[in-house]
Amino acid sequence: MQALEIIGENTLSGVINIGGAKNDIVSLMPAALLSDEACSIHNIPQIDDVNAILSIFTFLGVTYNRQEEQIVINNQSMENKPILENIAGKFRASYYFMGVLLTKFKSVEIALPGGCKIGSRPIDLHLKGFEALGAKIKYSKGQVNINAEELVGAEIYLDFPSVGATINIMFASVKASGKTIIDNAAREPEIVNVANFLIKMGAKISGAGTSTIIIEGVDYLRSATHEVIPDRIEAGTYLIMGALIGKELTINNIIPEHLNSLILKLQEIGAKLVINQDSITITAADYYKACDIYTAVYPGFPTDLQQPFLTLLTQCHGYAKIEENIYESRFQNATYLNEMGAKIKVEGHSAFVEGPSKLFGASVIATDLRAGACLVLAALIAKGTTIIIDIEHILRGYEKIVEKLSAVGANIKIIDYQG
Ligand code: UD1
Repeated sequence: MQALEIIGENTLSGVINIGGAKNDIVSLMPAALLSDEACSIHNIPQIDDVNAILSIFTFLGVTYNRQEEQIVINNQSMENKPILENIAGKFRASYYFMGVLLTKFKSVEIALPGGCKIGSRPIDLHLKGFEALGAKIKYSKGQVNINAEELVGAEIYLDFPSVGATINIMFASVKASGKTIIDNAAREPEIVNVANFLIKMGAKISGAGTSTIIIEGVDYLRSATHEVIPDRIEAGTYLIMGALIGKELTINNIIPEHLNSLILKLQEIGAKLVINQDSITITAADYYKACDIYTAVYPGFPTDLQQPFLTLLTQCHGYAKIEENIYESRFQNATYLNEMGAKIKVEGHSAFVEGPSKLFGASVIATDLRAGACLVLAALIAKGTTIIIDIEHILRGYEKIVEKLSAVGANIKIIDYQG
């Protein structure tokens, strides 16, 4: 089994270049299938979720030419086939094939999506949206069947501003007849970017980035070339790392505005950041005071960064609370941080931290993607050696993590582990 071996307490300096955003590429690639012509996407991150999408492309007969960070996608020979659990269950964003195939073929059969086990993660809002557009939903043998004679624009209110549901409804309505309005839409930067890609193709979408998105269906979508935005969660993870052990560590190729909530929280605890147009340089401070974190949808503090931030809070002076408001079980990492020496108590959807604590190397498990990131940070500041297993979760979302961290001075490698 593959594991990460990390020997802690090194200071990190130099430059980390941030790759394209996982949560952006996973919607841009399916979006390319909505076009009636070939499309190109640039700044593709090298993460396993991209490979999972490519395996669905191959399965459906979509052809592509991938070169380093670019891909050209051609769907001329795409077929509609049932997508089973062995493919769809590999990652969360497989749900985007629902909206895409519904628009393309008016019919989809697909297994429920996979992804990190961090809570119940229903897809009811996606399905309600499709129903409002005229689709009928049936379930059989773990597969969801979605069929529509015709897709007709509708006004859809999301009970919760889900990123996935917002984008999926955009996909299903982009060629529907008439006007669709998504109320209480999610406002994440990834939604704006995928909408801009569709607009370049000729889609009529306005309001992306606000709570009301309006889509006027069109008949034809042309070829377009688009770029993946920088991964704000990867950037945020490394910024937190810089606050812990950075010495003039520069996080490069970012959009600082997308990281506002994190930047303000780092400044609140006493971190010193030098913010430039597309980079931030950070050096660890001698003293941090604890702060509370409440996760919320964008522009609130991202749930995906609360787990890495938990490691930082173990090094802050005083008592801190993290309230997790998006997922029910996003503190599995706390158990392992405690094994490494932290003092964290989890009660319901809150974690209470008493700091600072000296952390020590241990054998720990990456239970999910961001829990894995939290443990990598903990291992980097701990005394001694840490072994992290189940690292496929980490590799699913963090591009070239070993290479990027080694290049700035971390002692980290992938080993074959027989624990
Ligand atoms: C996206 C991100 C994920 C991030 C999350 C929250 C992608 C591929 N993933 O996930 O990294 O952690 O936003 O910022 O972009 N919900 C429902 N019904 C639905 C859909 C969602 O109740 O149909 C609720 C969930 O229970 C949860 C919240 O909405 O409380 C977020 O749900 P989830 O579906 O995980 O978010 P995504 O948009 O898929």
